[in-house]
Amino acid sequence: MSTESEWWKSAVIYQVYPRSFADSNGDGVGDIGGIRARLGHLRDLGVDAIWMSPWYPSPMADAGYDVADFRDIDPVFGSLAEAEALIAEAHAMGIRLIVDIVPNHISSEHPWFKAALASPTAPERDYFWFRPGKDGNMPTNWSGEFGGTTWTQVPDGDWYLHLFTPEQPDLNWEHPVVREEFENILRFWFDRGVDGIRIDSAALLFKDPALPEVTDGAPHPFHDLDAVHDVYRAWRLVADEYEDRALIGEVWMPEVERFTNYLRPDELHAAFNFDFLGCAWDPALMRVCIDRTLEAHAAVGAPATWVLSNHDVTRHVTRYGRADTTFSFDNNLDGTPVDLELGTRRARAAALLSLSLPGSAYVYQGEELGLWENENIGVDAIQDPMYARRGHTRDGCRVPLPWSADEPPFDFTTGEPWLPQPAEWKDRTVQAQTGDPSSMLELYRQAISVRSAEPGLHAPEMAWIPMNTDVLAYTRGPDFACVLNLSAHPIALPAGSTPLLLSGPLEDGGLLPPDTAAWLRIP
Ligand code: NOJ
Repeated sequence: MSTESEWWKSAVIYQVYPRSFADSNGDGVGDIGGIRARLGHLRDLGVDAIWMSPWYPSPMADAGYDVADFRDIDPVFGSLAEAEALIAEAHAMGIRLIVDIVPNHISSEHPWFKAALASPTAPERDYFWFRPGKDGNMPTNWSGEFGGTTWTQVPDGDWYLHLFTPEQPDLNWEHPVVREEFENILRFWFDRGVDGIRIDSAALLFKDPALPEVTDGAPHPFHDLDAVHDVYRAWRLVADEYEDRALIGEVWMPEVERFTNYLRPDELHAAFNFDFLGCAWDPALMRVCIDRTLEAHAAVGAPATWVLSNHDVTRHVTRYGRADTTFSFDNNLDGTPVDLELGTRRARAAALLSLSLPGSAYVYQGEELGLWENENIGVDAIQDPMYARRGHTRDGCRVPLPWSADEPPFDFTTGEPWLPQPAEWKDRTVQAQTGDPSSMLELYRQAISVRSAEPGLHAPEMAWIPMNTDVLAYTRGPDFACVLNLSAHPIALPAGSTPLLLSGPLEDGGLLPPDTAAWLRIP
C-alpha cells in the first residue's frame, strides 16, 4: 500500500459484489472466505482498493442493501473476524478496503424498526417516517426509486415511508439519535482499519416534512435537499479523526453543479461519475461529459471519477453492443439485439479511456474479464426486487464470476451458483485469459500497470489534441497521449508517436481502427 496520502484522488478502485465474487463453502453464494482465497487476482490486477458492497446481516430483500446490523457480518458471507482478517490481508498486499454504508434506510428486521412497529408510542417511531394517511389513503403519491408506491400501512393505521422496497423503511435524518448512530458506525469501521466508506443513495436522506407531491418546477420533496450537506460535513469531521480515510458518495444527479456540492472541501472526498457511465458511445457527447466533469470537479478541488459499470446497471459490453448505447438497467428483457463483438471492442477502448483520464477509476468485478450481461436469467430465477416493482432486473450484471474450468459454475462454487452463468463464459474465465495477450484481462493488467508507472498519467491535467471531431485525443504530461477513434474510419496516429498500449491491433499502414484506443509516447 502506498503511503502517499490522498490515495482516493488517483486510485483504481475495484468493486467486489460479495454474493458473486467467489464462494468458499459450496452454498452457491460468494463469501469472505472466497474473497480471501482469490485476493491474489486483485493483487495481480494491480488495483489500489476494493469497495465491498454490503456484507452486513440482512434478510436480503435487496441483496444486502437492507441492513439489519451495521456492526456485524451476515453468516452467508462469514464473520466479523473473517472481515477483519480480510482487511489485514488486503492491506498486507497493498490494497485498501472501502465498506458500503446505507444511511437512507435500514432493514425492516433492524431492532429499531421492530421496536417502532411494536407500539405507536415507541420512541423509535420517530427514527422513521410514520404518518397518518390522507383521506384514508397513503400520505403522498410519490413513486419509489424501484417504481411502485412508497408507503406501507401498519396494523395500527399509520403508514411508513420507504423509497425502495417495504422491507427498507426510510430513516428520519432530522433525529439526533439517527445522526449519532451513523457517526458511530463510521467510527466502528474506521477503527477496524477500513480506508473508506461508500455512501449509498447519498442524496436521498432528507424529506420535505410537509410531504408535497412531486411537481415540475417545484423543489423535489426527497431528492438533494440542502440539509443533507450538514450530515456529510459531520461525517467529514469523523473521517478526519483518522488518517487518510475517504468518503465516496453514490449521488445520482443530472446537474453537475449540484452534484459537486457534495464534493466541497468539507464534505465528501469523491462521488461516482454516473454522467460518464450513462454517456452514449458518441464522440461529441463524451467530449462534453469529460469537459463538464473536469471543470465542475476543479471548481471544488475534488478528483473526478470514471465509472463504466456497477451492480445496478447493464454491463457495458452489452450496452456498447446495442444501437442505443446509453445507460440502462433493463437487463435487455425486451431482447434488443446486442453485438457482443462490437461491445467488447468498445469496452476495451473505454478501459483505456477511463484509466487515462485524470482522477480515480472504478472497475466493477468481471469487467476486467469482459463479461457481458446475462440476458437469459429466466423470469423464475430473477431475485432483484426491482423486477416486481418496475419490471426491470439488475440480476444480469450480478452473475457469479467465472474463475476456471470449461463449464458453469467455473469454480465459482462447488454447489449451484445463486444466479446462472452463461456457458459461453468458458473463454472469459480468469484461467482462460491469463497469459493471452489479446484478452481483456491482460489488457486491464497492463493498463493498470502502465498507469501506475507512467509519469504522464500522474500529471494533474489533460489537454485535448485537436484532431478530427470524431476522435477523442488528449495528452497527459509532456509525452503521453491517449487517442480514441470514435469515427467510422481508420485514422493515422499523431506524427512521431509510438504505441505503449493498444486496445486492438493497428491496421496495415499503422492506422488506428474505429472503436479502438491507443496509449502513446509522443515527441
Ligand atoms: C443503490 C444501490 O447501489 C442499489 O443496489 C440499492 O438497491 C439501492 N441503492 C437501495 O439501497
